[in-house]
Amino acid sequence: MDSIKEYLDKNKDRFLDELVDILKIPSISADPAYKGDMLKAADAVKARLLEAGCDTAEVSPTPGHPVVYAEKIIDKNLPTVLVYGHYDVQPPDPLDLWDSPPFEPVIKETKIHPEGAIFARGSCDDKGQMYMHVKAMEYMTQNDELPCNVKFMIEGEEEVGSEHLDWWIKENKEKLQNDVILISDTGMISKDTPSITTGLRGLSYVEVEVTGANRDLHSGLYGGAVANPLNILSEMIAQLTDENNHISIPGFYDNVENLSDEERSKMAEAPFSLEEYKEKLDIRDVHGEKGYSTLERGSIRPTLDVNGMWGGYIGEGAKTVLPSKAYAKISMRLVPNQDWKEITELFKKHFESLAPDSVKVEVKPHHGGYPYVTPIDTIGYQAASAAYEETFGKTPIPQRSGGSIPIVSLFEKELDSKIILMGFGLDTDAIHSPNEHFGIWNYLKGIETIPWFYKHFTEMSKK
Ligand code: BES
Ligand code: MN
Ligand code: MN
Repeated sequence: MDSIKEYLDKNKDRFLDELVDILKIPSISADPAYKGDMLKAADAVKARLLEAGCDTAEVSPTPGHPVVYAEKIIDKNLPTVLVYGHYDVQPPDPLDLWDSPPFEPVIKETKIHPEGAIFARGSCDDKGQMYMHVKAMEYMTQNDELPCNVKFMIEGEEEVGSEHLDWWIKENKEKLQNDVILISDTGMISKDTPSITTGLRGLSYVEVEVTGANRDLHSGLYGGAVANPLNILSEMIAQLTDENNHISIPGFYDNVENLSDEERSKMAEAPFSLEEYKEKLDIRDVHGEKGYSTLERGSIRPTLDVNGMWGGYIGEGAKTVLPSKAYAKISMRLVPNQDWKEITELFKKHFESLAPDSVKVEVKPHHGGYPYVTPIDTIGYQAASAAYEETFGKTPIPQRSGGSIPIVSLFEKELDSKIILMGFGLDTDAIHSPNEHFGIWNYLKGIETIPWFYKHFTEMSKK
């Protein structure tokens, strides 16, 4: 396996060029205008998987965007690793905040990435991280280092809630049988502090609409006498949290798993500098639920956030108007034992109860997902840990993340698998933001580490 470093050295320019080609395809799952590019991206992933040594690969249709499935079965008696990733990306908006166009990748140095980072939408989330697995596969098949069976499942709807994946997994249950699921779609603490993600938050996403009068009104003639939906919506949102930044929806915390003091002090051992955190975000202070640290607020505690809010006049200059409607998109991140369908119901009931008679309120649930936490005493985790030890010379720290990959808990339920989250992104990589980037060092480190996982997992499975 020591030949991996050599192989990387020899091929790294090509590995970067190939990633650049995939990043050029604007596979934005949320926008129907990019349906053609979604297919183009799926076809490209399929072709690259075949080139990397898969025996079969297909673009499998769903009622939404297709799933790319590929496999290489070398021996039915050997373990099988199922790799999951996604080829869809978030919309790049707002475009004017990008220093270079989101689908014209460029390599630039940054303070954290002196080796250069590749700037493009999807570079880290998740095309770059997904493609590490394709190149690791190429290395293993080209160098006779593939120790077990591999299956790839690369979907196109992750960024819009994996709506049809539930159905697709149930349809393809037999084909997807595996001994462990491996995903690189998360981050790590820093380049010299490797970590393995052991938890993800769940999600409930809703849109609300508040309606006042049946038409927009002159704010002089009617202002003060008729409800302004934007004012009312702001007041309603303000009531969703209290002075301790605790969420005030009745029943919201009923099933929240509380960590023991021991677990919390273990968490607090992870390297973290609040000063650095604030400095990087250019904020004077942090904000969050009373009684919890910043790391805890961002991982083991549930949240409620407005993601967007609109209505009325937002054009140039001033228009005096009392809008007829106001809207907001609200997300709640959930933690173990919270059921997103129940939470969505609780939100709906509570939000409707907050509305005065002067307005009508409609709550439209969008999508959701269950949280996930994995133990570290499994073969999968131990193999991942051993892999990082090989390439970082350090034992990775288990860490729960605040992000969500709804499909992960579904995998556990439907396929009865353990999921290993080997993420190589950094918090500063600006995923979902303008100027998203992925460090070349991280990209290559990922490709280097993944084959070690296969090796250790296969060896540990034999025992
Ligand atoms: N890869 C991210 C999730 C992530 C990023 C987890 C970093 C942990 C660390 C994924 O693509 C994502 O953005 N998920 C969405 C959820 C989805 C339902 C839209 C999210 O977390 O907002
Ligand atoms: Mn992702
Ligand atoms: Mn994402």
